[in-house]
Amino acid sequence: MVAKRRGRSSQSYGRFSAALATLRDDLRAARERDPAAHSTSEILLYQGLHAVWMHRGAHALYVRGHRFSSRLISQISRFLTGIEIHPGARIGRGLFIDHGMGVVIGETTEIGDDVTVYQGVTLGGTGKQGGKRHPTVGNRVIVGTGAQVLGPLVIGDDAKIGAGAIVIRDVPPDTTVVGNPGRPVIISGKRVAGPELEHTRLPDPVAESLETLTRRVTELEHQLGSSQGGPEDAPRRADANGNRPTNTAPHREGPEVRAPREG
Ligand SMILES: CC(C)(COP(=O)(O)OP(=O)(O)OC[C@H]1O[C@@H](n2cnc3c(N)ncnc32)[C@H](O)[C@@H]1OP(=O)(O)O)[C@@H](O)C(=O)NCCC(=O)NCCS
Repeated sequence: MVAKRRGRSSQSYGRFSAALATLRDDLRAARERDPAAHSTSEILLYQGLHAVWMHRGAHALYVRGHRFSSRLISQISRFLTGIEIHPGARIGRGLFIDHGMGVVIGETTEIGDDVTVYQGVTLGGTGKQGGKRHPTVGNRVIVGTGAQVLGPLVIGDDAKIGAGAIVIRDVPPDTTVVGNPGRPVIISGKRVAGPELEHTRLPDPVAESLETLTRRVTELEHQLGSSQGGPEDAPRRADANGNRPTNTAPHREGPEVRAPREG
């Protein structure tokens, strides 16, 4: 009986010290990744930290089946911090939410260790389907301000999501993705050769298609002309209304040839 009680108390002590270590990691994350942080007491005022800590409490209740109380904590946290984290989201150690306002993290989101998220980020779903519908974010990922990462996609370890990017596909590890839709610009430290994005030299796909078509029509006219004795022998084409010329005699350049007079 005594041994059983001792076992239980050492188990709860283990859980308590693990929880404490996690909270310490969250503090460390803010200290290491925010150049504006000067002291621990200052960091303790950060609403990003408050949101993560409240989430850890809410999640502990959530996994024990206390759906209402966990949701209540999450809503209170949202009210106080402007950061909405569903209590079901699984978050690793050292998550740093910088500034934080407007961050939304969905129910089935999974976040690895030492991830940094800036204000206005959504880790959300794309529809109303159930099951896994939110992103899985690897370790040491940075998600820039305003980025929207949508759907059950996977962001690999050490990836960077640029500010304002909209990511709807998996991102390989160690890859920087920017823009809408998110496209890789740096993979393992090397720049990816991409299309010319100079504003004054943007590609015009319509003009390019028209040019290709015109070139093709000219080629076909030449082929047709040479197979019938010359381009001028090509049958006259219908006009825009579909009418063909009644005079099918080939038009020839040069002096006019008159028909011999009768009689
Ligand atoms: C994506 C990011 C991490 C890339 O940083 P980096 O590794 O130093 O890469 P670079 O700045 O060299 O950018 C690489 C290319 O992506 C482009 N790019 C960078 N960030 C971009 C963005 N957010 N949106 C669109 N294009 C972007 C650059 O113009 C560059 O293009 P180029 O090769 O045609 O010149 C960084 O730009 C970013 O967005 N960080 C988020 C920061 C943030 O949210 N801060 C909030 C503070 S409150």
